[in-house]
Amino acid sequence: MTQSLLMCPPDYFGVQYSINPWMNSQRGKVDLRLASQQWQDYFSLLQKFATIRLIDPEPHVPDLVFTANAGLILGNKFVQSNFKHKERRSEEPLFREWFQSQGYEGLALPDSIYFEGAGDTLFQKGANLLWAGHGFRTDRSAHAILKKDFRIEVVSLRLVDPRFYHLDTCFCPLEDGGALYYPQAFDSESLKLIEEHTAPEKRITVSDEDASHFACNSVLLDRNIIMNYASAKLESQLNKAGYSVYICPVTEFMKAGGANKCLTFNLDPFQENKNQGIKKNKMPLAV
Ligand code: ARG
Repeated sequence: MTQSLLMCPPDYFGVQYSINPWMNSQRGKVDLRLASQQWQDYFSLLQKFATIRLIDPEPHVPDLVFTANAGLILGNKFVQSNFKHKERRSEEPLFREWFQSQGYEGLALPDSIYFEGAGDTLFQKGANLLWAGHGFRTDRSAHAILKKDFRIEVVSLRLVDPRFYHLDTCFCPLEDGGALYYPQAFDSESLKLIEEHTAPEKRITVSDEDASHFACNSVLLDRNIIMNYASAKLESQLNKAGYSVYICPVTEFMKAGGANKCLTFNLDPFQENKNQGIKKNKMPLAV
């Protein structure tokens, strides 16, 4: 099945504030022409493997390009993000309206619970399992609500390195129970959980060098993995594991702390529980 991805053209992208360590020294330093070129090249490459849907770019929300943070979809429900930083909160209604216009039922967690959508929640293909990050942007209490209301196994992983503040910056679920990840971004309990829930021979851990080039922030479309960077060693490990590696640099977007995966939102996540009835009226707040 062809996957659909949501993206946002970078017309108004830039680093205008700093809410993660990558942005600290980059204010006003984005080359918008290069960013547009990189985005366009990436978009063209993704079109070979997926259907791309677009949300209109808007001024004053420079991080809207990072559609991974829109929210989370479960069946026909869209759980919007409650951004931790006020700088990104005006993206919430824009994403909500887009998903509602596509027929999704919009839901929200209580305002006091931070949740940054698919940046911090990743489905494991072939399992009724959602990996969920906490520690920087998403509150752990959000995980418990998702687990209860959506009848899905949620494995909570604690992020400990501020450079890897979203789960998708340091963890990428792979096929057949595998995962690509940067161990140093997690506490020891979380590393045990990763080991318990993945197949040992399908785990690929990345070096500091690969991690700091956002190698884990990859998009997996069948056996094609699209990433900003991979060392020769990582590329050969991925090839041996049966993946075709496409290097597609998005260095201008890294200045804002995001790369390939952050620039996409998977509209067909690997949900095994799609048809299980989601308990009605259980979500704290419908919008
Ligand atoms: N500047 C954005 C932020 O700090 C980058 C978001 C990256 N997105 C992601 N899914 N990791 O929120």
